[in-house]
Amino acid sequence: MSLLQVQDLHVHYGGIAALRGVSLQVQAGETVAVIGANGAGKSSLLKAIARLIPAQGQLSFMGQDLTAFSAHQLKARGLALVPEGRAIFADMSVAENLQLGAYGRQDVAAVASDMEALCQRLPRLRERWRQRAGTLSGGEQQMLAMARALLGRPQLLLLDEPSMGLAPIMVQQIYSMIAEVQNQGVAILLVEQAARRALQICSQALVLEQGRVVLAGAGNELANDDRVRRVYLGGD
Ligand SMILES: Nc1ncnc2c1ncn2[C@@H]1O[C@H](COP(=O)(O)OP(=O)(O)OP(=O)(O)O)[C@@H](O)[C@H]1O
Ligand SMILES: [Mg+2]
Repeated sequence: MSLLQVQDLHVHYGGIAALRGVSLQVQAGETVAVIGANGAGKSSLLKAIARLIPAQGQLSFMGQDLTAFSAHQLKARGLALVPEGRAIFADMSVAENLQLGAYGRQDVAAVASDMEALCQRLPRLRERWRQRAGTLSGGEQQMLAMARALLGRPQLLLLDEPSMGLAPIMVQQIYSMIAEVQNQGVAILLVEQAARRALQICSQALVLEQGRVVLAGAGNELANDDRVRRVYLGGD
């Protein structure tokens, strides 16, 4: 049984069709990448899976129909979205943002040890513990957003363009954090316009164009596909 199963998903904004029949699967512990140009429907896909926007089609998570759950219930069941542009709470402190990530968890001792482990791993966040999150750099905000999502102990992490707008050194740090999440056995559905890295770290990948999957296969296969190289990898 797949962890996530998406079948014939459609999303419309008024008269505009953003997704036109997308199907995909994510197995437990696996990373699947979705690449595509601006407006291809990548964010709409993740938002529809996270139940933040209405969609038609079948969505199941751990064998259960996703449409029976609200976005909030999904988080408690192990599905977490780190949205495009991070969506941290700018006026709240770093600590408060992190505490929100653990909201609803009853295992207080485990939350404390998860929090401690994250702080060890991300000393920058600890140094800025009481600082307003809006004053963090873009890369630090991305780290905070990911750390917040991880505090919900997800089984599936939806990442919407985690490297967008970041300097190369920061991108590297974000991707090493992603690698650690993979090593912990968390499944990831990763959306990126910067396709190269995404294709390197995923097992399966899809190319989305105008709301449709036009190509799918193993990450390394797609990385060697002529068309993918030309259109998404800058021609080399
Ligand atoms: N709230 C909205 N209202 C109307 N149209 C929308 C809305 N959100 C997205 N769209 C349209 O749906 C299509 C897909 O948008 P989406 O944000 O999913 O693309 P994307 O692949 O994430 O793009 P980007 O790489 O720029 O983030 C686009 O044509 C966009 O203009
Ligand atoms: Mg987007």
